[in-house]
Amino acid sequence: MTGAGRTTPVAVDGRPGTRQPNLPVARGTLSAYLLEHLATPPHPLKAPPAPACASWASDDLQLALYVCYELHYRSFAGVDEGWEWHPDLLRFRAELEVVFERGVRAVVAAGAPLRPRAADDVEHQLWSLASGGKGPSLSAYVAAQATLEQVRELAVHRSAYQLKEADPHTWAIPRLAGGAKAAMVEIQADEYGGGREAEMHASLFAVTMAELGLDNSYGAYLDWLPGFTLATVNLISLFGLHRRLRGALVGHLAIFEMTSVVSMGRYSAALARLGVGEAGRRFYDVHVLADAHHEHVAAHDMAGRLAVDEPALVADILFGAMAVTAVEARFTSAILDRWARNEPSLLRGIEVPSP
Ligand SMILES: [Fe+2]
Ligand SMILES: [Fe+2]
Repeated sequence: MTGAGRTTPVAVDGRPGTRQPNLPVARGTLSAYLLEHLATPPHPLKAPPAPACASWASDDLQLALYVCYELHYRSFAGVDEGWEWHPDLLRFRAELEVVFERGVRAVVAAGAPLRPRAADDVEHQLWSLASGGKGPSLSAYVAAQATLEQVRELAVHRSAYQLKEADPHTWAIPRLAGGAKAAMVEIQADEYGGGREAEMHASLFAVTMAELGLDNSYGAYLDWLPGFTLATVNLISLFGLHRRLRGALVGHLAIFEMTSVVSMGRYSAALARLGVGEAGRRFYDVHVLADAHHEHVAAHDMAGRLAVDEPALVADILFGAMAVTAVEARFTSAILDRWARNEPSLLRGIEVPSP
């Protein structure tokens, strides 16, 4: 099953490549307005629709925001580079961001939010959040019972982030100083494979996708991704592109690193159970090793140090950590709910070449 007029991507080689993706198909008023304008040269934007009327979690708002942010990454084929800093487009993006950030803050507040304590206690608070794990676990489900089709779906969901892994967090580097900056650079250097293309984590994920018979070109599956998936990536871009949210970005990266080892080991085990070879599992195996070190660098040297150096950011560090936990929890339950009903979790079906 594929959408009207679009074909299922086909697997290419094991490298992410540099080809720009096509603009996606609109999902509502906000994205339709944006996509219509981006298809033409930069010009003043008149009477944009009001994002304030949309739910922060809607597919339409999340896609519109995702497209705005992608202008700062690889952009899209045929889109004039002048749109990236076009004032009218930035104004529209800012309105989307207000709705998104307000929505995420409300979800965090509705949970049991961590209360900021002393700056030197942030590391301890992050560890308690990372080991909290109250909700269902996607990796535990996948390890125990996911089918190959479900593993493929999950790889498609994660491709939105993993094919640009580390890029959104890198926005923080020029905004940090001293020990926190050095710690982030240490982590990011590993994420980028120490400067070796084949070892970049994005490259390793591209190999996994190819081994699963999926198209690993950047942005190939954007039309397949629900709003709850796009929100997981938009959250990092929001934090990364605003200096005022650098503390939240650091908290986000810290939780990423501090919750990685067990889940990555489970995903590797799931792929082994399903007969996927070493090359396809390497992305996960590398993370099990790397993140056993990164989790301490992230908690102590990066987030802990930032809190001590800039105590005014303590609340933001914790907010970033709670925000990623909340948005990932929504992602997990949305997928597990669909799988429990024997439904696909993507907006379109995926076809893979027969072996
Ligand atoms: Fe990584
Ligand atoms: Fe890592």
